[in-house]
This record gives sequence, structure tokens and C-alpha cells, in this order.
Amino acid sequence: MDQKIYVFDTTLRDGEQVPGCQLNTIEKIELARSLEALKVDIIECGFPVSSPGDFNSVVEISKNVTNATICALTRAVERDIEVAAEALHYAKRGRIHTGIGTSDSHIRYKFNSNREEIIERAVKAVKYARRFVDDVEFYAEDAGRTDNEYLARVVEAVIAAGATVVNIPDTTGYCTPWEYGEKIKYLINNVPNADKAILSTHCHNDLGMATANTISGVMNGARQVEVTINGIGERAGNTSLEEVVMTLKCRKDLPFYTDVDAKQIYKNSRLVSTLMRMPVQPNKAIVGRNAFAHSSGIHQDGVLKNRESYEIIDPMDVGVNDSVIALTARSGRAALNHHYERLGIHLTPEELDGAYEKFLSLADTKKDVNDSDLLIIVGVNRNEAARKIRLKFLQVISGKGSVPMATVKLNIDGEICTATSSGNGPIDAAFQAVKQLVNRKIVVEEFLVQAITRGSDDVGKVHVQVENRGNLYYGFSANTDIITASVEAFVDAISKFI
Ligand code: KIV
Ligand code: ZN
Repeated sequence: MDQKIYVFDTTLRDGEQVPGCQLNTIEKIELARSLEALKVDIIECGFPVSSPGDFNSVVEISKNVTNATICALTRAVERDIEVAAEALHYAKRGRIHTGIGTSDSHIRYKFNSNREEIIERAVKAVKYARRFVDDVEFYAEDAGRTDNEYLARVVEAVIAAGATVVNIPDTTGYCTPWEYGEKIKYLINNVPNADKAILSTHCHNDLGMATANTISGVMNGARQVEVTINGIGERAGNTSLEEVVMTLKCRKDLPFYTDVDAKQIYKNSRLVSTLMRMPVQPNKAIVGRNAFAHSSGIHQDGVLKNRESYEIIDPMDVGVNDSVIALTARSGRAALNHHYERLGIHLTPEELDGAYEKFLSLADTKKDVNDSDLLIIVGVNRNEAARKIRLKFLQVISGKGSVPMATVKLNIDGEICTATSSGNGPIDAAFQAVKQLVNRKIVVEEFLVQAITRGSDDVGKVHVQVENRGNLYYGFSANTDIITASVEAFVDAISKFI
């Protein structure tokens, strides 16, 4: 029988520690609800003693989440544990996650202490936490660089003190998969009471091995994985939830399963990226924009004949609507025909031959051949000059203490239309005004601003991805005024389907 692996999501704690990724309580509740719908088992949502904001978030998430266990982090300090217990008051199932550094480097430099004293402090913290909750997880910080014999003594002592889960973090992302797996195996074989608790992985990605280490940990006896959506987290990040869950799902030869509803993965990835303003790298496994995009002719032909030729995961299984057959100079006729069919244009074999020749010469000079280009190739006129919608005028009012307002004038098919709207910022206000004018259901899926150089007089490049009726459209603009660039990019994306 396959064994269950508990999924412990720490996007709201370890992930949220990333500079610039801080969320307010409302956003945290939204994400916690979405993680619950994803069916993770445990949601770690803060370090309550660290700030009133963290405290409050743990309280509010506890009130709003029903099925998942709510976990709060502490140091091995009584005050931390008391505050965490208070924050978890409303949790249907609450867990305190307490711990202390166990590597010689942490013991000597961080705590100016010795191994025996650290065991005493660990035991005391676990016992104290058990006074408040039945579910106590202990973390041996920097376990990745902790001597295995000593680590086994710590683990035995905290389990005897009442820890229900023992976390073995590779805090610095130093371990190799073999080494990390051996560490877990060593603990399972050498800690006499190891069967009384669950061992957990918690791997950082400094050497790009977090997922491999986590899987190795599971294969050697760990039954809980600590992960974040999109792998966000300190420095190079934590183990990514989507990679671990899909490895366990897709590798049928591994005797493990999780309760995660994989179809919710992409939605959660987008939500984290949007809320934390942290773009996902295009080639990120499972959730990157190119994760299911095929560009070479041989691959495209293979996928169109049978997607399993080059796909180990059906994109639909993670909530992505379809794989992308990207059109590049390496694409073949099958890919081109696939796109014409998608646009509702049915070509005879001779027409396809003619279109393919034109397409190849265009693809040699243009990196991204889009739908407008395809239409032009077969004589349907919808080129840039004939664009039906253009930004004519933009004025925004924003600043401390004022409600952001924007007035937008668009030229839509020769007619000048004006709208004014407010928003949570000048860009949001302008986007709302544009939406009023085009009167379509448009969802902004991605919004990315990049500076070209570094000065305040820099040109900002803006990429926008919007969704309309299940299709995605990209827009781009560059301007020294990033609000103008943003609205132009938004209008550029909209012009692709209007
Ligand atoms: O990486 C780490 O060691 C941690 C602990 C606090 C669990 O995040
Ligand atoms: Zn961590």
C-alpha cells in the first residue's frame, strides 16, 4: 500500500521572509484559503512573537481555515511559545513548531553554548509547548551540517519529551541528495523511539538540490515534506511544493502519495506570484510559462501525434489549460497547421505549404510569431497599423493621502472614448478605466516591470499577460514613465483580441 506523505506548506512563513514578499493579513488569509483548497495538510503561517502583524495573521488564518493544521513558529524560548499558543487559540488544529540550532557552528557561535545544554533547552521547549497543544514539531536548525550521532541524540530526546514531528532542516542548502537521504535513514535506524514521531524534510535550494534532497529524504523514511509554492524562500528558496507533489504523483514506481489536489497547483502558483510580486522564471518546472511549451519541430510533431511523446505530465493535471506549441523557426508544418486550426482557419495541403514558406522567412527575422502574423500570412488583415485600440491620453493623480485616480482616452476603431476610474494605485486605476472602455472580462495574469539600467531616469520595460475567454495574450511597452508603459502594455495585450 502506498504511504501518505504529509505536505507542510511554509509559503506564509519561510516564503514570506523574502525581502519584498511581505503580505498583509487580508492577503495572507486569501492565500491560506487557497492553500486549504489545494489540500495541503499543514499551513505554517507565521512567527507570532516576531511582530504584531505576524501574530494577527496567525489569529485570523486560524479563524478562517477549517481542515488544515495551522502551525506557528517559535524559538526554544518560553515567551515565544506562549505567544504562539495564544495566536493559535482559534485554530481547529494547532501546531507549535519550536526548535534550536544543533550544528557545532550554531552551538558555538549563535548560542555560545555546548551540545548537552542545547539538548536540555530543546527538551524544555518541547515540554513547555506540549502544555499548550498536543501537536508539537521540533526543528533541529542546520541539521544538514549537524553530526549524525549527536543529531540522533537530540531527536531521541525531543521525541521522549513529546514532539510529534521532528524536522531535519538543511537550513543552508548544503547537503547532497545522497547525504541527506543517509541522514534520514541514520535517524530512522538509530533513534530507538523514531517510530513515535514523523520525521520531516525541510530543504533549502542554495545548490539547486532542494527537491532532490526532499525526495531522497522521503525515500529514506521521512513522511512529511516542508515546501513553498514556486519554491520561494530565503536566498535561493525552499523546496517547491509543485515539484515534490508532481514527482510523487508522476513517478508511479514510488510507493507514496499526497492528498494535494494537483489541479489547484497552477492557480496557487499564480496567486503567490501576484500577491508577492515575484515573477516565476519561465523555465520553472511545473509552473513556469514554458513548462509545457514545445518549440522544436520534432517535439511539436511528436506532441501533436501523442502528447506523451515529450510530456510526462498532462498540463491539465496541474490546472494549466493546454500545452503550448510555440512557433519558432524550428517549428514544422504540423505546428503551424495546429495554430491555424486554433484560429478557425482550415488550410488545404497546398495552402499550408505556401503559408509555411512565408512563415519560415518571417520566423527567421522575428523571435515571436504571433496570431496577427499568422493571419497576415494567409491574407487576413489585422496588422499592427490596423490595430483597433490605441492609448491616446493618460492622466493619473496619486500620492500619499490621495485616492489614486486615472483618466484614460482610447482610440477604439477610430472613435475616441474617455473613462475615469479609481484604484488601489495609479496603475490599477488606469487599468480599471481601460476595462470600462473595452467592456470585456479581462484578468491580468502577469505584470512585470523591469528597469533597463539603474538610475531614476531609467526606461521601464513592462510585460503584461492577460486572460480573456480562456486564452492568454501578451503585451509589452517601454517608457521612462512606467505608468504610461504599463497602460500601453495592457492596451497592447488587449489589442491582440479586440
Ligand atoms: O531553514 C530552517 O532551518 C528553518 C527552520 C526555522 C525550520 O526554516
Ligand atoms: Zn527554512
